[in-house]
Amino acid sequence: MSLEYDLAVKLLQSGELVAFPTETVYGLGADAANPDAVARIFAAKGRPANHPVIVHLAGAGQLDQWARDIPPVAWELAEAFWPGPLTLILKRAPAVPLAVTGGQDTVGVRVPAHPVALDLLRAYAEAGGGRGGLCGIAAPSANRFGRISPTDAAHVRDELGDAVALVLDGGRCPVGIESTIIDLSNDNGPLRLLRPGHITPEQIRGVVGVAPESPGLRKPQQGTPRVSGSLDAHYAPRTPMRVVDTAQLRETLAALSAAGKRFGLLVYSSPDSSASAHSLRQMPNDPEGYARELYAALRDLDAAGNELIVVERIPESPAWAAVNDRLRRAACGAGNS
Ligand code: TXA
Ligand code: MG
Repeated sequence: MSLEYDLAVKLLQSGELVAFPTETVYGLGADAANPDAVARIFAAKGRPANHPVIVHLAGAGQLDQWARDIPPVAWELAEAFWPGPLTLILKRAPAVPLAVTGGQDTVGVRVPAHPVALDLLRAYAEAGGGRGGLCGIAAPSANRFGRISPTDAAHVRDELGDAVALVLDGGRCPVGIESTIIDLSNDNGPLRLLRPGHITPEQIRGVVGVAPESPGLRKPQQGTPRVSGSLDAHYAPRTPMRVVDTAQLRETLAALSAAGKRFGLLVYSSPDSSASAHSLRQMPNDPEGYARELYAALRDLDAAGNELIVVERIPESPAWAAVNDRLRRAACGAGNS
């Protein structure tokens, strides 16, 4: 693998794209200090240029390169959760290209916990990093804009093909949904949860004493999106999706079968009427297990030639909040192309 890291570092230093696994999803990486390299990310993804990308670091010691006026609470969260699936939004250091921040004065940073991502980031830093000696890898999820994030190296190749010079294969991503995003850029303002994830508001409260607020997570945004994940048509399969209560599942499936519909089914309890589905994915009934398998399952059901994907509604409790968020967005954007 070390030869592959050498190659990956050289590619990054020459402005090419390298996809790599993180504990959440695969990222599409470029030298975060090189605006031309970052522009390639947007071109490969088909993503609008005003969407900011997260900068990945080898450790919190590199934070000063990318952010300024870092509040104590940022160091506390970094200490508690890095490496791990938590992204912090901070004020941007002057050296950070606007291409990375989507033109905003803030930057998103995180230290990923996946061993391959960390080895890559460390090798990159040891080799002197990118432009100006800055050691950050800008990486959004390695999917086409608006599509399901990849949790497997094969998904990345399917999505991006030749647009990416190298895909480091680290197997299945253990978390399976994107990092929790907390905005700390607002002086004296409250911590804001911009995207729910594996690290919960309760865990954040356990460290800093107060839970982050959730501003407008349910509302589509106007104007420049601060978080592209908050666009409703995000994380979406091509096949239309319908979320159905467990109690109505039986009736709904019977009606679909009677109408001769070819549908895929994503369930987590054990409904007795699932036999009529053309393709069935039985999900784990705990939120972590469900999150780990969700995107791969949606991808499979999407590829199976179904007219509709029926999803059994999951619980509304806080433990399921991040998974509910992704399911809601997927259902909203599904079938749009
Ligand atoms: O788990 C993850 O965070 C994965 C892996 C690869 O690290 N990355 C990821 O990147 O999900 P992406 O680009 O698909 O989503 C990053 C989110 C976007 O919604 C983006 O708008 C937000 O982070 N973001 C990045 N910088 C920001 C900033 N300065 N202000 C507000 N939001 C920001
Ligand atoms: Mg994404």
